[in-house]
Amino acid sequence: MRRPLVAGNWKMHGTRASVAELIRGLRHLALPSSVEVAVMPPCLYINQVIQGLDGKSIAVGAQNCAVEPMQGALTGEVAPSQLADAGCALVLVGHSERRLILGERDELLSRKFAAAQSCGLIPVLCIGETLEQRQAGKTLEVVAGQLGSVIEELGVGAFAQAVVAYEPVWAIGTGLTASPQEAQEVHAAIRAQLAAESADVARGVRILYGGSVKAANAAELFGMPDIDGGLIGGASLNADEFGAICRAAG
Ligand code: G3P
Repeated sequence: MRRPLVAGNWKMHGTRASVAELIRGLRHLALPSSVEVAVMPPCLYINQVIQGLDGKSIAVGAQNCAVEPMQGALTGEVAPSQLADAGCALVLVGHSERRLILGERDELLSRKFAAAQSCGLIPVLCIGETLEQRQAGKTLEVVAGQLGSVIEELGVGAFAQAVVAYEPVWAIGTGLTASPQEAQEVHAAIRAQLAAESADVARGVRILYGGSVKAANAAELFGMPDIDGGLIGGASLNADEFGAICRAAG
């Protein structure tokens, strides 16, 4: 069946010294082989992390990539091909902080998704509703729209080599977590939307939950049938806590 994935999104945190310390902590972790584990450091530290984790089975990913796959004239951006060249295996696409703070739109995100895949990276498409949208009863509509725009642009087949992360915006960094039932309802809807196009793709795709996941609530969330692991923010900056979350997925 689906192999759980737990990915740590370090966001814009870290210095060379704190990253070195985190690497030391990660190297000491006992991780279940049944779980795929990944970390996503700030771009600047990707090299340091890849070298530091050499020999440890933790994949490294990026938090964002350019819309163009190959290197070229695009000041300030990092091409998916450069991420692949550095040794990255996956990349976040459409994290809500980029959608909401930087104005990234669905159309742009489909291009990033395709660019990442064309370089052999696994895109992790992040989708989720704001508090206002949830309170207005629009959660499923919003999530379906974000997912649907990528399906429409690239076809459902694109999700055979991709991951979806459901991250309710109101649960990110707030200490509020969707209840396992609330999360499961959305995960099931995401899988059903994919299944309407391809049962095989829907069965195989991993759908992660993100939003204030900690060691204390991980097992309950990961126990739900359509939750295939987590995208972890704050708690991934502590190696021991992150290790406990990874074990909860095993
Ligand atoms: O991408 C992970 C994320 O946005 C969740 O962050 O700090 O609530 O675990 P956090």
